[in-house]
Amino acid sequence: MLILAIETSCDETAAAVVEDGQRILSNVISSQIEIHAQYGGVVPEIASRHHIQNISVVVDQALQEAGLTFDDIDAIAVTYGPGLVGALLIGVSYAKALAFALGKPLVKVHHIAGHILANSLAYPLLKPPYICLVASGGHSHIVKVTGWAQSDYEVLGQTRDDAAGEAFDKIARVLGLGYPGGPLIDALSKTGNAQSIKFPRVTFADQPYDFSFSGVKTSVINYLHNAQQKGEDVNNADIAASFQQAVVEVLTEKTFLAAQHQNIHVVALAGGVAANQALRKAMTEKAEKLGMTFYVPPMIMCTDNAAMIAEAGFYQAQSGLFSVLSLIAVPNL
Ligand code: KG4
Ligand code: ZN
Repeated sequence: MLILAIETSCDETAAAVVEDGQRILSNVISSQIEIHAQYGGVVPEIASRHHIQNISVVVDQALQEAGLTFDDIDAIAVTYGPGLVGALLIGVSYAKALAFALGKPLVKVHHIAGHILANSLAYPLLKPPYICLVASGGHSHIVKVTGWAQSDYEVLGQTRDDAAGEAFDKIARVLGLGYPGGPLIDALSKTGNAQSIKFPRVTFADQPYDFSFSGVKTSVINYLHNAQQKGEDVNNADIAASFQQAVVEVLTEKTFLAAQHQNIHVVALAGGVAANQALRKAMTEKAEKLGMTFYVPPMIMCTDNAAMIAEAGFYQAQSGLFSVLSLIAVPNL
């Protein structure tokens, strides 16, 4: 089964062709990062306009790289939420128009399901049940995956305020590093001492798998203000490394705690924050210590892409779960 997938939930216009949920024939990503970086974050209206400009070029390129034409495609998968409404609408409208014009089935995909399934596309041996930590710019979820369908995901814990990636982006901004913050903090942390400043690690007695990142964010900002008031110099690399350590520790500890409590010995990591080197290392080491198996996709499959949407679409299509053409974008899905 050949799936053509489209992803436009945020600032990447992406299209991919995947065969039988296993072979990536093309995975085209047109990033708008440089455009939004001037504003310090994604400007939704600008993102939508660039998706309009890029979408047909990106889809054509995905087909060309796969050596296929529209006629060869069996189904069209599209991200319909969550995400920026204007951005999602471009992908959804384009996919619906394609499906209608070509007379091919349409499959609607939950963006986070796509992130989770990036792992099974990268590692065909990975089979449910497993625990997946999805940490991106908009979400931080610990998910129990018991099957391939989107109805087989149970959210065990989630953030009560900021998402992990959002915290990285905000701290990068206060440190004057730029956008997107995750990769910049990741790089700067390599030269800093992660033990130098003890930023808070938040736990909840009633819900051990929930996260909160607003406390650590405020703590970093207070640390900077205090130093400024006293006229003291700060070491940005130490701040970045200590902040990153606080986030990595809670993400790792809570995810493996959930796995232990659920008696599941396979853990996966997904979402943009999965590109973080310290998090990949901490989770790899924790899994080794506990005798668990750990999966994390290659870097290109961590941040937004359409190959992961094709993978999720493949499982939906296999189960005959096709969408009506009246599909709408659901930003808060
Ligand atoms: O999954 P994604 O591409 O888009 C969303 O669905 O949100 O994730 C983007 C987020 C951004 O917040 C970005 O700063 C973060 O992932 N990110 C990272 C790294 N690379 C991207 N965070 C920490 N370390 C990284 N290396
Ligand atoms: Zn994403």
